[in-house]
Amino acid sequence: MTPFLKWAGGKRWLVANHGQWLRRSVDRYLEPFLGSGAVFFYLKPQRAILSDLNEELIATYQALRTQPHEVWRHLRAHHRKHNKEYFYHVRQQNLRTSASKAARFIYLNRTCFNGLYRVNLQGIFNVPKGTKDNVILNTDDFSLVSERLQPATLVSQDFLHTIKKAKEGDFLYVDPPYTVRHNKNNFIKYNERIFSWDDQKRLAEGLLLAARRGASVFVSNADHPCIHELYHASVWQRFTVNRFSGLASSSKHRKGTTELVISNYLTKRGKQEDQRY
Ligand SMILES: C[S@@+](CC[C@H](N)C(=O)[O-])C[C@H]1O[C@@H](n2cnc3c(N)ncnc32)[C@H](O)[C@@H]1O
Repeated sequence: MTPFLKWAGGKRWLVANHGQWLRRSVDRYLEPFLGSGAVFFYLKPQRAILSDLNEELIATYQALRTQPHEVWRHLRAHHRKHNKEYFYHVRQQNLRTSASKAARFIYLNRTCFNGLYRVNLQGIFNVPKGTKDNVILNTDDFSLVSERLQPATLVSQDFLHTIKKAKEGDFLYVDPPYTVRHNKNNFIKYNERIFSWDDQKRLAEGLLLAARRGASVFVSNADHPCIHELYHASVWQRFTVNRFSGLASSSKHRKGTTELVISNYLTKRGKQEDQRY
């Protein structure tokens, strides 16, 4: 199922090219950097903890889970009224009900510049209108989204709270913002908070403990020497993947097109180790 949001760093390409690397049939699925949830919607787990620091994002999922028809009704109203002036009117609105807030979030996501999410210091969304005007998509099925979200616990919190819950039998899919050392945090900014190099270190430490508790872990991250160093080869298998062709090949590196995937259950050849799954 295609995610209903367009999200910076979204992983539609990963599931399209490397779905076989992801753990299926696990006790529980945990995703601490949910974004548009491309991997969650692909795997359709029966039990899940989904979280993200972005409160508006998590509130949107919560509203879709309980009131998909209400959200759809509001979104259709945006569709009918959409134009440039209306976009800026909605952008500065502060709505009251959870369904109208969710529809506003989806409307702005679909019509703003590149589907970016950025807020000013007051926490108000400030991305300008983009070039896309499709408020309703052919792939929209909010009843199905609601159905898929039923078995999930949805929380807005820092990643470490979710990672600390991972234990044997769990599958942890981890897709943080791609910050690297020495970039003075200007690489990518998300929400009011910047994902710092200290966060990357905190993340790697938390994942090592989760791996030691027996959780299966799969991480997406920047293909940068400092990230390779954080995930030591004695515990982690690291693969460079090409976003566009999907090919994993060091000879095909093109600047900016490779990413790193890191896991504790894949063999050197990229096969899943036999555990009890
Ligand atoms: C690369 S995106 C995830 C994309 C997702 N995999 C997808 O397919 O759309 C990273 C996410 O991390 C969230 N985030 C940033 N800092 C965080 C933190 N400290 N704890 C939890 N989530 C955080 C952002 O809000 C963003 O949604």
